[in-house]
Amino acid sequence: MKSSPSSPLAGVLLSLLALASFALGSEEAEKAKTTVLITGANRGLGLALSKQFAAGDYHVIGTARSPGKATELKEMADEVLPLDVTSDESIQALAEALKGRTVDILVNNAGYFGPTKGLGPGREKSAQLKSLTRAEVLDCFAVNSAGPIFVTQGLLPNLLQSEHPKVVMISSRSGIINKDSASGAYGYRISKTAINRAMKIMASDKSLAKCIFVSIAPGHNQTDMGGNRPNLLDPDESMAMVKTRIEELTHQHNGRFWYYDGTELPW
Ligand SMILES: NC(=O)c1ccc[n+]([C@@H]2O[C@H](COP(=O)([O-])OP(=O)(O)OC[C@H]3O[C@@H](n4cnc5c(N)ncnc54)[C@H](OP(=O)(O)O)[C@@H]3O)[C@@H](O)[C@H]2O)c1
Repeated sequence: MKSSPSSPLAGVLLSLLALASFALGSEEAEKAKTTVLITGANRGLGLALSKQFAAGDYHVIGTARSPGKATELKEMADEVLPLDVTSDESIQALAEALKGRTVDILVNNAGYFGPTKGLGPGREKSAQLKSLTRAEVLDCFAVNSAGPIFVTQGLLPNLLQSEHPKVVMISSRSGIINKDSASGAYGYRISKTAINRAMKIMASDKSLAKCIFVSIAPGHNQTDMGGNRPNLLDPDESMAMVKTRIEELTHQHNGRFWYYDGTELPW
C-alpha cells in the first residue's frame, strides 16, 4: 500500500516537486528533439514539408518573408521566423535569433521561378532567349543559388553543433544538364544547376565533413510554382516521401542528387 504524505503541507510540496520535474522533463524532451529549419515554409512544398515534420517528433522552425501572413504555418510549426534569403541582413538576423542553438536539419526550400509561373505547356514563349531579361537570370540566382549558399553559411555554427547535421537543397530535375530543355526558363534552370554544384563543393569541403549535403528534386507538384494540372503530384504525398529521404540520409548519400522517390539523379 502507498504511504500518504504526513501533512497537507508535505502533500502540496510533493505535488509541486512532481510538477517541476514534469516541466523539466518536458523541457529536456523538447531539447532532445531533432530541430529542422525549412525556408520558404509559408506555402507550397515548404508548408507541406513542415506539416510532415510537425506530425513527427521534431522541433520545426519554418521561415517566411512575412511571418505575420503565415497563418497555416504558425498553426503547426514550433517557431516561425522571418527570412528573405536574398538579404544578408535578414540571414544575419536569423542567425542572431538562433545563436547558440542547434539546427540538425536545414532544408533550403525557398525558390523563385521567374516572372512566368512554372514550366509546362503554354509557357514556352515567355521563356525564349529573345525575351529573356538580365533581371530574370539574376533574380533566380539570388533566390535559388546564392540564397541557399548564404543561408547555409549563416547557420553553420548551429549545424556544426548537431551530432548529425544534414543540409538539403530542394533542387529540380530542370537543372539536369542532359535533360531536354525546350521550355527555356533559363534563369530557373541554370540557378538549380548552380546550387547542385555548390552543394557538391560543400560536400567535399573537409572542414564540413561532419555534415551531410544533398540535393533533392521534389518532382512536379501542384503549387503556385508548379501549376494545378490534375496529373501533378500532391505536395502532402511527395513531401512525406522527401521527409523519409531526409531521415534515411547517411554519409553514403553525401554530395549526391536524389529524386523524391529515392532514385538517384544524374547531373
Ligand atoms: N512545385 C514544383 O513542381 C517544383 C518542382 C521542382 C522544384 N521545386 C522547388 O521546390 C521549392 C518550393 O517550390 P514551391 O512549388 O513550393 O514554390 P512556391 O509555391 O512558389 O513557393 C515558393 C516559396 O519560396 C518563398 N520565397 C521566394 N522568394 C523568397 C526569398 N527571396 N526569400 C525567402 N523565401 C522566398 C516564397 O515565399 P513568399 O510567399 O513570401 O513569396 C514561398 O514560400 C523551390 O525551390 C522550387 O524551385 C518545385
